[in-house]
Amino acid sequence: MILKKEFEDLFLNISSRAALSSYYHIGKKDKIAADKAAVDSMRNELNKIDIKGEVVIGEGELDEAPMLYIGEKVGTNIGPELDIAVDPLEGTNFAANNLPGALAVIAVSNKSHLFKAPETYMNKISVNFIEPNVVDLDFSTKKNIYNLAEFKNKKPNELTACILDRPRHKEIIEELKKLEVKLKLISDGDISGALLVTDPKYSVDIFLGIGGGPEGVLAASALDAFGCSFQCKFLFQTKKDIERAKSMGIRDLNKKYQINEIVSGDSIFCATGVTSGDLVSGIEINENEFTSETLITHKSTGLKKIIKTRQII
Ligand code: FBP
Repeated sequence: MILKKEFEDLFLNISSRAALSSYYHIGKKDKIAADKAAVDSMRNELNKIDIKGEVVIGEGELDEAPMLYIGEKVGTNIGPELDIAVDPLEGTNFAANNLPGALAVIAVSNKSHLFKAPETYMNKISVNFIEPNVVDLDFSTKKNIYNLAEFKNKKPNELTACILDRPRHKEIIEELKKLEVKLKLISDGDISGALLVTDPKYSVDIFLGIGGGPEGVLAASALDAFGCSFQCKFLFQTKKDIERAKSMGIRDLNKKYQINEIVSGDSIFCATGVTSGDLVSGIEINENEFTSETLITHKSTGLKKIIKTRQII
């Protein structure tokens, strides 16, 4: 089933208003407050629209009592049944410290078409084409880089890889350095990092490494609309993680997922800048109006663009 075109404006409005709410907290060294502002706004706006929505990627589990918890029903309970994935403030450190790259992010699909990912780490890899056996999560970093270079008719030292700058990536980063691949090391924000493969203007050939599982599902929704490939595997660190995964229906804990097992059918994705970053510019306020930039994709209509809007506060 196709998601109605009018949802594009509705969800763009939801992500831009969440970005605005968070914007008031930038540079205040309080990531909890910045996140809460975005969460409250998203929840409030979602509850105004005619959908029977269920949060499948959210702010945590019901027992942790957050707003927008996984399983929470949102919308007026009239209209289509939808899965909703949210990261109301992606890059909470960026917002708290007034650094580039904080985003408000939401994705929507028909019911049961977005993966209910547990809140654990996920190993991810993404490139901007779909071609089996070129880049694969099960290949070594070296093999992926050589294959990618051959596929793109480039030398390894002409490729750029985006990866979170974390001690857990030491070996991959060392290998990339040995291969003379250009690094784009990001300090946070791997939804944005993954999306840098979508357009040659960002000069990123491959995104890889371990980041949040929920962030992976959100990125997959946009990557799917861009015709990019994305593979992932969950990494469970505690017994509790494993129990939760099992209760969510995950049988094979080591399974490698392809993009269409994470998001299938139609989906709409919106990421609005809170602070300006690689992907989109941040919020600007002028008297009683605010300007926002949102990367929006809608798979079935082929919409994939950055939209700048000016709205009344
Ligand atoms: P928050 O917005 O929740 O702070 O997450 C930022 C982020 O960098 C994500 O983009 C990424 O997936 C995750 O944290 C990585 O986790 P960690 O900081 O534990 O490596």
